Amino acid sequence: MGSPAAVANKLDLYRSLLPQLKALLEGETDFVANAANTSALLADALPDVNWVGFYVLDGKELRVGPFQGKPACVRIPLGRGVCGTAAARREPLVVSNVHEFDDHIVCDTASNSELVLPLIRDGELFGVLDVDSAELDRFDDVDVAGLQRLMEVFVDSLGD
Ligand code: SME
Repeated sequence: MGSPAAVANKLDLYRSLLPQLKALLEGETDFVANAANTSALLADALPDVNWVGFYVLDGKELRVGPFQGKPACVRIPLGRGVCGTAAARREPLVVSNVHEFDDHIVCDTASNSELVLPLIRDGELFGVLDVDSAELDRFDDVDVAGLQRLMEVFVDSLGD
């Protein structure tokens, strides 16, 4: 966790992103359209992030979806890598140094820390949000809580 001022700035940033995301997704329910715009908003707004986007559950694997960043690995088995581990556990996963995470899958060699949030809809896992940073220890509980709230808005936008 950063200094009190840094935490306050981060909280303000996530608070300001909430109405922006709602406005961006208003009236649209298509997954690709909304995932593309959500990743674009996050890439533009979040400091020190080099990859942000979605992996979608496809059987026992995650398949890359809309994202911003360098080309990424297409399929990740459930339980593998940071993404597949968070998906299998159905829990957020923050890795402060990906080089110390045994099963980390390298997509962008610049990445040093990572945050993955499982996406659950009607009680079922359907994918993850993955965020990478070149900074070590870039992500904390404030990012988890802020991004979880934004992902609630994203999941709700997809309709029934
Ligand atoms: N590092 C991830 C792979 C996806 S990329 O970071 C975009 C992982 O270990 O699952």
